[in-house]
Amino acid sequence: MHQGRYTARPAARAANAPTSIFTEITALAVRHGAVNLGQGFPDFPAPDFVKEAAARHIRDDRNQYAASAGVPRLRRALADEWARLYPEARAIDPDAEITVGCGATEILHDALLATIDPGDEVIAFEPAYDAYGPDVATAGGVLRPVPLAPPDWRLDPERLAAAFGPPTRAIIVNTPHNPTGKVFSRRELEVVADLAARHDALVITDEVYGEILFGAAAHVPIATLPGMFERTITIGSMGKTFSATGWKVGWAIAPAPVSAAIRAVHQFVTFTNSAPFQEALADILPLAAGNGYYPRLRADYARRRELLAGVLRRAGFDPLPIDGAYFLLCDLAARGFTNDAEFCRRLVTEAGVAAIPISSFYADPAAAPRMARFCFAKKDETLASAADRLARLPAL
Ligand SMILES: Cc1ncc(COP(=O)(O)O)c(C=O)c1O
Repeated sequence: MHQGRYTARPAARAANAPTSIFTEITALAVRHGAVNLGQGFPDFPAPDFVKEAAARHIRDDRNQYAASAGVPRLRRALADEWARLYPEARAIDPDAEITVGCGATEILHDALLATIDPGDEVIAFEPAYDAYGPDVATAGGVLRPVPLAPPDWRLDPERLAAAFGPPTRAIIVNTPHNPTGKVFSRRELEVVADLAARHDALVITDEVYGEILFGAAAHVPIATLPGMFERTITIGSMGKTFSATGWKVGWAIAPAPVSAAIRAVHQFVTFTNSAPFQEALADILPLAAGNGYYPRLRADYARRRELLAGVLRRAGFDPLPIDGAYFLLCDLAARGFTNDAEFCRRLVTEAGVAAIPISSFYADPAAAPRMARFCFAKKDETLASAADRLARLPAL
């Protein structure tokens, strides 16, 4: 038998995959014992009614493979939740129009593999969540970034219109938006809807922060605009809403033919994800609607947002205003920093606070403004500890 050593030859898509800045900053945070305001997950406990639902279903032995499209009770609960939130909108058929997968991350991947052919263009607003580019590339598509301009991140209709053309197959929308906290207005979504309809493009909308809103901000799913359900994949996840990002239950709502394509991909990516957590979410959705959870969640995040904003201001930064999600962006140029990635590396190694450079949300980092993203889904103690460390910042 031949005894030669295996020579690792990763496929180009793996060899060329960028090391995510999240991975790099998290590794530095661990190495330097830093307070991690980089990654977007809560460090406080999930609510008791959420945890009890999962414990109940594990005790009840919901331990075997769930149906590939998602457990029927959960699909029904998601359709009911849609009807509760958007009573004017078209009803969802839980049998044919919902697919449950391993978080929004898997569903995004499935959605792009299901709808994009090699050479197709996919428009995405920049800054863009870091999975969109690699997902489009894996499907063989070409990402067409369209910038949102700081400080208010308003959509420029002319720039967007110029990005559409014959190769455009889809546009990705993310509202509430990571990392800017922008919530797309109905008017802006109408601009997107109009262009998508004119160019017969699909809209893939990532709405994982849909419940985390501030002040008068209202979340409008683009699928609820007239005529848009038929060309939209609406992606949701329970991770952010219920402070349980590790449960990884996400879903796509899409018209039956599009859902069929998503399901066809999903069956060979994960086939199904955790049965007890899906069953639990089917209980949690109606409970949360009835027990005042959502207004409490928003009030709690408004308080944490103010706490972190105060910490950042005392450290000499001026966080931009936000309408949703749980991140604050600070302009570093005002403090004399010219490279956000370098700033974040020094912040984590020298001050012991992890943040994410906004350039990691751009296909061309040089096109990015100089900003750092701080997450406020953190315990008061974590934010206080960040405050102590940021007080050392002038030394940077
Ligand atoms: C905009 C956006 N989309 C999708 C995801 C991933 O969601 P999930 O944890 O459900 O996979 C995240 C997580 O940070 C996100 O910020």
